[in-house]
Amino acid sequence: MEKEVKPAASLNGILNPPPDKSISHRSALFAALSDDVSIIQNYSVAADPQSTLSCLRKLGVGCEQVGGETTIKISGVGRDGFSKPAELLDCGNSGTTMRLLGGILAGAGVPSVLTGDESLSSRTMKRIIDPLIDMGCRISGRQGLYAPLQIERHDGVKGIKFPLPIPSAQLKSAVLLTGLFGEEPTEVIEKIQSRDHTERLLELHSEVSDVGRIIRSSRTDRIPAQTYTIPGDFSAAAFWLVAGVIHANSSIELKNVGINPTRTAVISILEEMGASFHFENMRAEGKEPVADILIHSAELNAINPDPALFPNCIDELPILMVAMCFAEGRSIIRGAEELRHKETDRLAAMAEIFNRSGAKIELTPDGMVIDGNRDFRPKSATYPTWHDHRIAMASAILASKSKSHSLIENAECTAISYPDFWDHLNELTYAFKE
Ligand code: S3P
Repeated sequence: MEKEVKPAASLNGILNPPPDKSISHRSALFAALSDDVSIIQNYSVAADPQSTLSCLRKLGVGCEQVGGETTIKISGVGRDGFSKPAELLDCGNSGTTMRLLGGILAGAGVPSVLTGDESLSSRTMKRIIDPLIDMGCRISGRQGLYAPLQIERHDGVKGIKFPLPIPSAQLKSAVLLTGLFGEEPTEVIEKIQSRDHTERLLELHSEVSDVGRIIRSSRTDRIPAQTYTIPGDFSAAAFWLVAGVIHANSSIELKNVGINPTRTAVISILEEMGASFHFENMRAEGKEPVADILIHSAELNAINPDPALFPNCIDELPILMVAMCFAEGRSIIRGAEELRHKETDRLAAMAEIFNRSGAKIELTPDGMVIDGNRDFRPKSATYPTWHDHRIAMASAILASKSKSHSLIENAECTAISYPDFWDHLNELTYAFKE
C-alpha cells in the first residue's frame, strides 16, 4: 500500500500514542513465567507484540482477550511449564520477541525453533547465542548467527558475569532471562544504561559499582503474577515531538506517554536544539513513570549529540535526523553504527530518504552529517521504506513539510508498532496547501 502525504501548514490536536511495544512484550513474557493469572491492560495490538502472544500460545500459555482486544489475561505456566511447541515459533519482524523469548526458552531448555521474516532473519543473533552457550544452553543459528534459532534441552544453566559488549536492552534482557533458570546468579554489567523495563518489571537486584551497573538474576528471583498497565509508547510519541516542533503554529498534546528516563534522551537533545516541552499529570503507572506531553513549534539549532545518549534514544534517531534537517547549521551524528543492525540499515535508509528529499547530508560509516536549514522544504518524492516502520513514519513527517504531495511505499509497515499512525497524522493535519 502506498500512502500519500500532503503538506501540512501546521499540526494541532490531542493524541493517545499506541501502547508501549517494549513493555507489552515484557509483560506478556513475564506473566507467562509466573505461576498464576496476570492481567495486562492496554496491551499493544501492533504486529510485534502480537507475535509474542502467538508464540506464547504455541508454548501452551493461555493468552485470552478479556473485555476488548487490549486487555489480555495470561495464565502463567511457571519457569518449567512451557510445552514443547508442535510448530515453528514465528517471531515475525520482532527482534525483541526473538531475543527475549530466545533467552527464556534456551534457559528453560524447551526444544523449539524460532523463525522470523526476511528482515529479522538477516539480523545477527550471535550477540545472544554466544553468552547463552557460555551459560550452558544449547542454542544455534543458521550460519552460526541468523534465525532460524534452534534450541535444545541442556544439563543446567550456569551463572556468568557478563559485561555487555554493546549497550543493547535486548541482549541484556536475554542474558538476565536465561539467568532466571540458573541456581547461581548471573551478573550483567552495563557501562551505558539501556532501557531498564526488564529490571523494573521483574524487580531484579541491581547496584552501581566502579565497573558500571550490575544487574543480577537467578532461580531464586520470584516472578509474581500481577496486573500490568502498559503506558503509551515514547518511541511512537517521538514522531509527534519532532513534527510539532518543526511545523510552525503547531500545538500537540500527547496523552499517557511512558517517560522512563532510559527512553527519553531525545527530549534533552531536542531541548538543547531549542525546543521546549511541558509535562503534565506526571504519575506512576505500575512500575513506569507516565505523563501527558505538550509540544509547540520551535526554532531549532544544529547539534552534535553525545553518542553516550544513543542507547536511550536508539529508536528515535531516524526522526531526530529529520529534526536536524530543519535545524540551522551542521549537525553531526557519530557513534550510531548500531542503527545499521535494526529492521533495516537505518543509516543507509535515512541517507537515501534525505537524498530523495533534497536535504544536504553526508552518510558516514557510523552516522551522518546534516546541513540543516529552518526554511528547508523537502522536494515532493516517492519514499521507499524497506518495510521498516520507523523509516516509514520518519519519511512521512519529513514529507509533511514539503510543498506538495509525496508518496510513502509499503506504508502498512507502520502497523509493526503503530497501527493508527496514518489516522493520527490525518487528525493533526487540519490545513492543507494544495
Ligand atoms: C528494545 C531494545 C532496542 C530497541 C528495540 C526494542 C527492547 O534494541 O531498538 O526497538 O525492547 O529491548 P537493542 O537492544 O537491539 O538496542
